[in-house]
Amino acid sequence: METKILTIGASDPTASVGEKLACAGSIIRQGGLVAFPTETVYGLGGDAFNPESSRKIYAAKGRPGDNPLIIHIADMAHLERIVRAVPAKARMLADAFWPGPLTMIFEKAAAVPYQTTGGLDTVAVRMPNHPLANLLIREAGGYVAAPSANLSGKPSPTLAKYVIQDMAGRIDMIIDADGAQIGLESTIVDVTCEVPMILRPGYITQQMLSGVVGETDMDVTIYDSSSPQAPRAPGMKYRHYAPKGELVVVDGDPQEVVRYINEQTAMHEAQGERTGIIGTSRMLAQYRASSVKNAGDREDFRTVAGQLYTFLREFDDEDIAYIYAESFAETFEDKGFGQAVMNRLLKAAGHRVVHV
Ligand code: TXA
Ligand code: MG
Repeated sequence: METKILTIGASDPTASVGEKLACAGSIIRQGGLVAFPTETVYGLGGDAFNPESSRKIYAAKGRPGDNPLIIHIADMAHLERIVRAVPAKARMLADAFWPGPLTMIFEKAAAVPYQTTGGLDTVAVRMPNHPLANLLIREAGGYVAAPSANLSGKPSPTLAKYVIQDMAGRIDMIIDADGAQIGLESTIVDVTCEVPMILRPGYITQQMLSGVVGETDMDVTIYDSSSPQAPRAPGMKYRHYAPKGELVVVDGDPQEVVRYINEQTAMHEAQGERTGIIGTSRMLAQYRASSVKNAGDREDFRTVAGQLYTFLREFDDEDIAYIYAESFAETFEDKGFGQAVMNRLLKAAGHRVVHV
């Protein structure tokens, strides 16, 4: 299949952007697939009411069919058509955080095909906060089912070039435009229960959610990897975001972490293997490896989050066989945005953590 690349620049005139998105929207309405930027990561969009579109999304990603898709809307009035009811707390969360990086799980309306919800009676809904995404959703008819636009098992794309790498030849169109600033997927909250439950941590933290609706819960599998329970978001059970190299998270006193990592990288490099490190700015000058990535300030998780997936992909391109990352374990306790970063890092590492 030939994939059209539609480039949209920040300073393009409104009329030309409108024309391009009308074209992209009509592809979705006709059952095709279009990848587009959102403020979290790039999405791979199809018509949420068309079972054949959902089937194509699973095929393009190589994704298991039991892993449900998120329906993206651009208008609060559109929510009613896809859910059985809008609980009061869901409305409060929508008022506070939509458009934005929050996905909510509702009881699904009969009109939503099971192909889109992976066979579940619930449906995930999000209203993104990205002008191109919102225009595209409207042009596509209002309901765009979209997972992250990566091949299954790869990090979610935060740059258009990674969407092109993964999806060229597999879908109808890729919108090449900027804006996936957050760099991690949305927070997912189940609002079908009395106490809303976080199923995937993200930029909207538990503290922010509780500030709006009072008590909230968190799926135990997010903070306890040894829990025998299955994650309540089916996608969280897969080992996502895996780089080709072996990734180990190193936790402990900062100077000990540096010492341990440098010892390991020296050993592998001596055996002719390329090594990589993800470190925070203060420690950076001390690290020795083929590729050292600056994840920014330990105090500002936005910089770390924004680059994490890019680093994992760059390590693949650089043929790095062993990767060491500083830990952000202490952030698990405060349940802030750092928790989301650490959650993704641990998944990428297959939960390999060394304590020094
Ligand atoms: O930021 C995001 O959420 C991005 C952008 C494109 O919007 N999308 C995204 O989609 O991350 P995806 O498909 O990669 O992840 C969706 C997650 C999966 O873990 C899936 O299992 C879960 O949402 N999910 C979807 N529907 C669900 C449902 N009804 N119940 C529980 N979990 C659900
Ligand atoms: Mg994904």
